[in-house]
Amino acid sequence: MRILAFAASLREKSLNRKLIALAAQIGGAEGAEVDLAEFREFEMPLYSGDVDERAGLPPGALKFKRCLERADAVMISAPEYNYSISGVLKNLIDWVSRARPMPWRGKSIYLMSASPSPMGGIRGLWQTRIPLEGCGALVFPDMFALPHANEAFDSNGGLRDSSLAERLRREVVGFVRLAEAIVPICGQPTSLEAQKRQKEIASALEDETELQPQTAEQG
Ligand code: FNR
Repeated sequence: MRILAFAASLREKSLNRKLIALAAQIGGAEGAEVDLAEFREFEMPLYSGDVDERAGLPPGALKFKRCLERADAVMISAPEYNYSISGVLKNLIDWVSRARPMPWRGKSIYLMSASPSPMGGIRGLWQTRIPLEGCGALVFPDMFALPHANEAFDSNGGLRDSSLAERLRREVVGFVRLAEAIVPICGQPTSLEAQKRQKEIASALEDETELQPQTAEQG
């Protein structure tokens, strides 16, 4: 199973990048092929309906869409900004949601957050679920928020707190197992029966994306 993993931060010393690296290691040890991407690779302008109508997805969004299409599942570590979703992540979700077929649909997603604050960014993750689920993604029920993240990592990049490290391991393993179970239904269909089930699911999820009328040929 292929997992696309990234931290939704452009910051060089990003704490979320440290957290996603740990989750990627755990996923790899569980047998997943993890593609650990840099958010900077996908830089894109703010969403504009005019640009969208004229030219469709900009290169950074198109690059992300292709990575997403190749993946069966996604792990994201995203900072909380002002009690909510990070702006750069929301912008990415909006651009990519303009493509058809909807690239987010049927993707299993695991959400994490790291913050120096005592809450660890969990409020932002609840907000992050909304657009992803609106786009038909299957967001894993458990989410991992790392509080006091500026003091949480040891010099090898591991978590100092062994109970938190164990919780992260358990959640990532659970996510990988659930995503593996979902791939035959929502991923690349391998049999006629799987194709039929996938069509039924896609047509049910399509209702949600009718909220987003398409105005131009999309990337
Ligand atoms: C923050 N930060 C923050 N943290 C938090 O737990 N709750 C919040 O509401 C906010 N709000 C917020 C707004 C803005 C504009 C900034 C710049 C920062 C702190 C933020 O989580 C912290 O800077 C993280 O370290 C950012 O993630 P990366 O870049 O380290 O991955």
